[in-house]
Parts: sequence; structure tokens; C-alpha cells
Amino acid sequence: MVFDIDLIKRIYQTYPQKIDLIRQKIGKPLTLAEKILYTHLAEGEELKAYKRGEDYVNFSPDRVAMQDATAQMALLQLMNSGRNRVAVPSTVHCDHLIQAYKNAHDDLIAAENNNQEVYQFLRDVSNKYGIGFWKPDAGIIHQVVLENYAFPGGMMIGTDSHTPNAGGLSMLAIGVGGADAVDVMAGMPWELKMPKIIGVKLIGKLSGWTSPKDVILKLAGILTVKGGTNSVIEYFGEGTSTLSATGKATICNMGAEVGATTSIFPYSKKSADYLAMTGRQDIVDLADILTDCFNPDEAVLSQPNKYYDQVIEINLSELEPYVNGPFTPDLAYPISQLATAVKAHNYPDNMEVGLIGSCTNSSYEDMMRAASVIDDANQLGLKIKAKLIINPGSKQVKYTSKRDGILSRFEQAGAVIMANACGPCIGQWRRDEVADEHKNSIVTSFNRNFAKRNDGSPNTYAFVCSPEIVTALTIAGKLSFNPLTDSLINDKGQEVKLSEPIGDELPKKGFAVDDAGYIAPIADGRSVEIYISNHSERLQLLSPFSPWDGKDIISQPLLIKVTGKCTTDHISMAGKWLKFRGHLDNISNNMLIGAVNAFNKKTNSVLDAQTDEYVEVPKLARQLKAQGLGSIVIAEENYGEGSSREHAAMEPRFLNVKAIIVKSFARIHETNLKKQGMLALTFVNKDDYDKIREDDKISIIGLTDFAPNKNLTLVLHHRDGSGDSFAVAHTYNQSQIEWFKAGSALNKLKEGFK
Ligand code: F3S
Repeated sequence: MVFDIDLIKRIYQTYPQKIDLIRQKIGKPLTLAEKILYTHLAEGEELKAYKRGEDYVNFSPDRVAMQDATAQMALLQLMNSGRNRVAVPSTVHCDHLIQAYKNAHDDLIAAENNNQEVYQFLRDVSNKYGIGFWKPDAGIIHQVVLENYAFPGGMMIGTDSHTPNAGGLSMLAIGVGGADAVDVMAGMPWELKMPKIIGVKLIGKLSGWTSPKDVILKLAGILTVKGGTNSVIEYFGEGTSTLSATGKATICNMGAEVGATTSIFPYSKKSADYLAMTGRQDIVDLADILTDCFNPDEAVLSQPNKYYDQVIEINLSELEPYVNGPFTPDLAYPISQLATAVKAHNYPDNMEVGLIGSCTNSSYEDMMRAASVIDDANQLGLKIKAKLIINPGSKQVKYTSKRDGILSRFEQAGAVIMANACGPCIGQWRRDEVADEHKNSIVTSFNRNFAKRNDGSPNTYAFVCSPEIVTALTIAGKLSFNPLTDSLINDKGQEVKLSEPIGDELPKKGFAVDDAGYIAPIADGRSVEIYISNHSERLQLLSPFSPWDGKDIISQPLLIKVTGKCTTDHISMAGKWLKFRGHLDNISNNMLIGAVNAFNKKTNSVLDAQTDEYVEVPKLARQLKAQGLGSIVIAEENYGEGSSREHAAMEPRFLNVKAIIVKSFARIHETNLKKQGMLALTFVNKDDYDKIREDDKISIIGLTDFAPNKNLTLVLHHRDGSGDSFAVAHTYNQSQIEWFKAGSALNKLKEGFK
């Protein structure tokens, strides 16, 4: 047993009384998200009605989870925090650094060789500070958390944007940067803007080819990539109780794609079934008594428009399968319209690879339903036209699927089974056949489809959908294929139609695993030595960032004015760069190399105004830094959308970028910038973006008076001697201003331990 039942007992002991008190104090019925948020207010935080979308509030989460790519920087910061042992149960999961190339066995050996130094570091620090360690191949962080740690009514944070996956088991689980994780592991309160709450009412029941993934794919089309910003998406209605726990987790997982703080489902019989089958009957016994605590109040359900900030209704019975993409997860096509879109937009119809896996869709149910489509194709005499690659979500899923003959069905059909890890989802995919960057389509059961994310090629058009639709399209080898209506020609030349997928939500014989891949920390880790070589390319001890010099920022050159989408993948690419996630100096060489320069529409090519030559972005930033100068980054909407990786904030800080000024920010990234002591500012008038010229110098005035809700002034010094001046806004509260002044939140945290 890796979860701590005593901890959960302690939390549940006073849960109903706490909720009664909260209801009384804030004077209204409670949504499920509010129940969890308010029961987790940090000590000393006043119990009162906080304004949604406005008030910053301190919370005390129950757990922390970190994946290996972000854990490196989080743990390097923890080592600088002054703590000896983590204050809340925490875990590290080795899932991001395994490259998918040949097969699970060979790739795992290669990963263990290539990442030996990093794995050893993560394991040693985990041991020293009392953190649970999940070995490479144990599984993808969110699947492992769902199988082992998620519990109804709990609150956790994770250094990965798809942490909300645990909302499928009614846990309020939020993706954060490593610095936030350090706060919680150090026993400090963790701050979040009280989120708005979007209610999504589910009615009806899924059937046929439609799966839980289609709920969130449709919702992404409705809300767009920004529509959930600063909001919790809370699902309610009779449809919620028809969905499996892993299906609900899929939906919560991908709420990250609409920018939601997190997503959550109420506790139901299916949640209990999953908990029981994953060895947590103890939790079910306790949670069943508290069902009301893990559901919205009746009054909320009878007047949802009154208690949710927005209500959206989805009828599961009428829902079609969706295929979203390319290049953005909110471009949502019901499958009946996909063929037309393929033609109209000239998407490559030749589907080259289907990929099943990722934290979003790699459960036992996902595997079984996809395998049923393969079985059907076999019986119909159909050959699989495209390549099929599978990354099971965890050792437990893999072992159980193998025992039940599911994996062998994939293998017999020619599929390659990769490690239980992220693999192609995070660009850890050595796909030799796209070395020429030819135009092609891939279809995945993942959550993201940004350009270059999976195989590094800008000409790979990635679409996301459910595992069963991935399988059908892979069999057809055609993006425009609609398994609901279209036929295929079999080996006898006959027209045949695939049957609807079928599969068990949970394994009939229960889950099983030989060794789940968990290593518990030793009881007292004080004597554990952490070794980082001075010559290491992968790891580097952190030096604290310098505090603010007490002055306004005067005449700093523009580094880049970004046009269009600028996700954390554009700011700090993954793929081959993942290996430098523990070495700030080395990873800074990828800073903003994927962002498009507004002036020449090129990536990684910006004007050095001193020489009038175009140079690479990190090179220019380093040159300016060497001259004792800073620089300024300008961008458009939803800057920093995507992952929680704080490298996207630390790299500009390290390379002496003074401010990021944008039309709007994605939530996690804005917080990450603030935590690293950066200035994150927004245009009051978005058209002012157009006033910025390529060779401008920029001043930011008003910092000596930096205060909440008070705009700063941006002054542009154009090369021709003219200038512009306008207001820029910020969302810093007083404690965040203190982080800025101290140089970073960590510097401020350390002051507290002195
Ligand atoms: Fe891994 Fe992709 Fe999920 S990178 S954690 S599988 S979004």
C-alpha cells in the first residue's frame, strides 16, 4: 500500500463539520469545487466568501506529485529552501525522459543509460527529503496518481499541467510550476486566485463509437484554449454517474487544454468501483459515508445558473466522436465533418501513424476498447494500413492488459508496444522517417497537438481523438475515414464495416502487477549525499537570482516581438531539450527558439540593433547580458499556454530578460514568471502591441511605486528619436510584489527560514 490511509482518515474525520461551517459562513449552498477549496484553506486564512476570479487565497494541499522533467528544477529549488524533509506526502515519477524508438525493452535500457545521472539525482534527493520515487517504466505520473493516490475531497498540486487528471476521482488537482511545489513541500501555504467555476451539465449516456474523450474534445471547441482560464470546470448532472472513473479522468486531464485551473467530477458508484479495484476499499468505506461532501449541494443542482459562473450542457446520447487539430486542441471537428475539413484545408489525408497512450488515454478500458476494434478488423480480413504505436499508462495497466491477452492482440496486428511512459506525447519520439520533414498526418489519443510537439517536424499534422477512433483511422490509413458511416475493402475485395468498440471499464479478474516500480524513501535521509558534478551537462546547482535593484527599468532593447501562438513549447521546447531540464544554463539555449518574430515571420531570428544583423534569440540575450544589459519580450494572447514547465520562466530570468509584456497570459505561466522574480505585464490597450518597433528601446516606469491594481507605464524609445508611452497592467498582489523585490519567491521563502 503506497497511500497513507491514516492521513485520509484524519482529513475525512472533520470533513462534514467543516463543510457545514463553510456553508454557514459564506451563506450559500456549495459547489463541489468550493467544498474542497474551502476545506483546504491554509491555517490563518479567514473563512469568508472569497471573490471568484479576483481574490488571492492561501491553501494547504494534501499532496505533491512531480514528473522527472520538472522535478529536477523543483528539487534543485527544494535543496535551496532550508528544509530537511517534505512537509506533505510527495512523489517523483520517471516518465518523461524515456525516448520511444524501438520497443519498451530496448528503449528502457537506453533511457537508463542516457539518464543515469538524472535518475540517480532524483532518487537520492527523494530519499533525502522523504519523497516517494516511481522508477522509469512504472508509468505516467497521472495514471500512477489515479491508481494510487487520488482520493475524493482531497487537494493536490503537481508539476505538470495535466495534474487535473485526478479530478476523475473527485480530487481537486492542480498543475503548477516547481516553485509552487517547493512552497508546499516546505510547509508553506500555496497561493491561488480563487477560481471561477464553470458548470458542465452532462445528460444522457455515451454509446457506440463515442467515448469520454469526446466530451472534452467538444468542450474544447466551445470554450477554446483560453475559455477555462482561472476557472474550475465542475461536471454535474445524471450523465456524470454513467462514466467510468478513468473516463472521467480523461475529461479532467484535458481541461488543461482550455486553460482551466482544474476540472472535477462528483463521487459516484463508478469512482468507488475503481478505488476498490485498485486496492483502496478502505477509502471507499470512508468516502461512501461522506458522499454528500463529494457532490455539489442539492440547491446548486436545482439552480445551476445561479451558483456556477457559466453553465454548458452536453447530451452524451447525442455526442459524436470528435477529432481535434491540427496544431491546436480547440479546432474541434465532429467526425461527420472531418472529411470535408480535410479537403477544404488540404490536411494530408494519408495517415501515417496512430498513437495510443499518454496520461489522457491509456487506461485498461482504453486499451480494451481499442483492442476490440483490432479484433474486429482481423475478423473482417482487414490489414492495418498505418503504423500503430502504444504506450500503456502504467505497469499495472500493462501487466493486466498482457495477462488478459490485450497486448498480444495489438502485437499480432503489428503494433509496437513502447515503455509505460510519455514518449511521443512529449516529443520523446525518434521518428526517423520524418527526417525530411515531409507533410503527413498522425492521429493520437494524447491531449496536445502543437506544431513539432510529437516528432519535431513542422509538417506533421497531429490530430487528437479517442483511442478507438485512433485505431479505426489507423486501420483505414486515412484521416478522412469515418468508421460510423464508411466501409473498407478487405483482403477478399469485399466492402466491410467496422463494428462499434466494446470493452470492460475494469478488468474482470482485477488489476495485477508484479513490481509496480515504487521505492519508498528511507525513514531518515539526513545522511544521504547529493552529488552533482561541476562538469555535468544535465544538472547544475542553482544560484539565487539577484534581488531588484530598486530602480525603474530604463532603455532596455527589445529581444523579440512574438506574433501568434506562443506556448511553453515555443518558449522552452521539449523533445531533445528535455535532457537539459536540470541545467539552467544549458537549457537556456532553447529560449524562445520556437517563437515567431513578428517582423520577419521567422523563428529564432531576431534583430541585433547594435549590428543590424539577425541572430538567434538566446544568442542575442546572452550578448546583451554579457554587456550588462537586459532585454524585453513582447507577445500576443495566452502567452505560455500549455505546460507547467517553469524553465519557460527561468530561462528569460537567467538570460536577464527584464519583462514579458503580452496581450494576455496563461495562468500557470504567469505565476511561474512571478515566482522567478520576473515582470509579467499586459497591455491595457491591446493595440499598443502594434506600436513596438523592431529596434526599440523600452523603459518601464513606476516600479518604485509598484503596488497591487496600479498600472505601470511603458515608454518606447524609437530609433528615429520619436517615442510612445502607454499604460501596462499587472496582477501582482502584495506578496507577489515581495517576490519581485527579493528576486524570486524562493529568495523570499528562504528569508522566512532565516
Ligand atoms: Fe506525459 Fe504527455 Fe501526459 S507528456 S504527463 S503523457 S501530457
